[in-house]
Amino acid sequence: MGRSCNLLFALVVFILLHTSLSTLPNIITDEASLLAFKSHISSSDPNNILATNWSSSTPVCSWIGITCTSRHHRVAALDISSMQLHGTIPPHLGNLSFLVSLNISNNRFHGNLPQELAHLQRLKLIDVTSNNFTGAIPSFLSLLVDLHILRLSSNQFSGNIPSSLSNLTKLEVLKIQGNLLKGEIPRELGDLHYMTVLNLDSNHLTGSIPPSIYNITTMRIIGLTNNNLTGELPTTICDHLPNLEGLYLSRNYLDGVIPPTLEKCRKLQILSLSINEFSGTVPRELANLTSLTGLYLGGQHLGGM
Ligand SMILES: *[C@@H]1O[C@H](CO)[C@@H](O)[C@H](O)[C@H]1NC(C)=O
Ligand SMILES: *[C@@H]1O[C@H](CO)[C@@H](O)[C@H](O)[C@H]1NC(C)=O
Ligand SMILES: *[C@@H]1O[C@H](CO)[C@@H](O)[C@H](O)[C@H]1NC(C)=O
Ligand SMILES: *[C@@H]1O[C@H](CO)[C@@H](O)[C@H](O)[C@H]1NC(C)=O
Ligand SMILES: *[C@@H]1O[C@H](CO)[C@@H](O)[C@H](O)[C@H]1NC(C)=O
Ligand SMILES: *[C@@H]1O[C@H](CO)[C@@H](O)[C@H](O)[C@H]1NC(C)=O
Ligand SMILES: *[C@@H]1O[C@H](CO)[C@@H](O)[C@H](O)[C@H]1NC(C)=O
Ligand SMILES: *[C@@H]1O[C@H](CO)[C@@H](O)[C@H](O)[C@H]1NC(C)=O
Repeated sequence: MGRSCNLLFALVVFILLHTSLSTLPNIITDEASLLAFKSHISSSDPNNILATNWSSSTPVCSWIGITCTSRHHRVAALDISSMQLHGTIPPHLGNLSFLVSLNISNNRFHGNLPQELAHLQRLKLIDVTSNNFTGAIPSFLSLLVDLHILRLSSNQFSGNIPSSLSNLTKLEVLKIQGNLLKGEIPRELGDLHYMTVLNLDSNHLTGSIPPSIYNITTMRIIGLTNNNLTGELPTTICDHLPNLEGLYLSRNYLDGVIPPTLEKCRKLQILSLSINEFSGTVPRELANLTSLTGLYLGGQHLGGM
């Protein structure tokens, strides 16, 4: 009697466990997401790599571009960069709930990044560089609070830079150069205290550079070249930038004098200020920058060094 009761109990536990597990997302969900993605990729995949490789007859974790977690056997990384793929991103990608790294750079994907990607709370890296995405920079990106690297460069993103990106407090790399962004640089970006690279080159940004940007002590590279930025550089520019290696501000409408205090950015290697409206003389103090390998000041009326 006791024994058959135990058996019955075990059976009930087994059935409960089994049904609850099969309704939870698992590698089958991941496979379905990726196959849905594959069906949105047009046949311009010239070598038909995905068509032959992403097949139900082989385990998902051995598909090209897929890396799985060792513990749960779930898809952790999707890297299909530089495969000449053409298509759109379906909402199903938002079901890859263990995804940490998404790299679809250097293809020809177009359309929008679907809202469902906001479900991917483990994402640390998004790289969609060099595609043909359009529309605003999605505001849902600010919900992906584990992001360390966000690269959206060389697409056709338009509108303003959302100030909500300052929610991504772990962000180290933010690259959005080569898009169609307009408006001002949100001063809230200065709240990103771990940022090392900020590149907003070649957009249509206006207004002055928010001084909060110069407050990020981890910063190594600031790239704002080829926009429509105005205003002066503050004399305090280098007070909190001990790690700055590159300051790229060419091709804007910046004016005033070149601050001699730039010498306080001790590690500066590249200082690019050409084709602006700076006046006065080139400060002697720049000669103190012993790491400097590139100094670009041409295209404006400056006195000698
Ligand atoms: C898919 O590509 C991977 C990586 O190149 C390779 O190891 C695997 O054998 C391929 N599988 C099939 C079915 O082509
Ligand atoms: C995956 O996502 C799609 C669209 O977001 C949804 O309709 C579908 O039910 C999901 N599939 C699974 C297996 O979770
Ligand atoms: C994404 O892939 C490209 C091409 O393979 C590579 O150059 C790039 O560094 C990758 N992105 C990130 C953030 O690792
Ligand atoms: C990108 O999209 C635009 C408009 O949607 C189109 O005219 C252009 O040909 C596309 N470029 C590429 C490389 O697909
Ligand atoms: C900022 O992140 C928090 C979680 O840390 C989230 O609840 C909130 O909605 C986010 N705000 C925006 C504007 O995205
Ligand atoms: C700067 O503004 C002018 C005038 O509005 C415009 O013609 C030009 O294309 C803009 N340049 C950039 C890089 O946005
Ligand atoms: C820079 O940081 C200091 C100290 O954290 C703060 O008092 C100051 O307001 C900040 N400046 C800007 C322009 O954000
Ligand atoms: C920096 O340069 C100025 C002017 O050339 C010089 O007087 C000064 O001693 C230098 N400072 C340091 C810390 O090297």
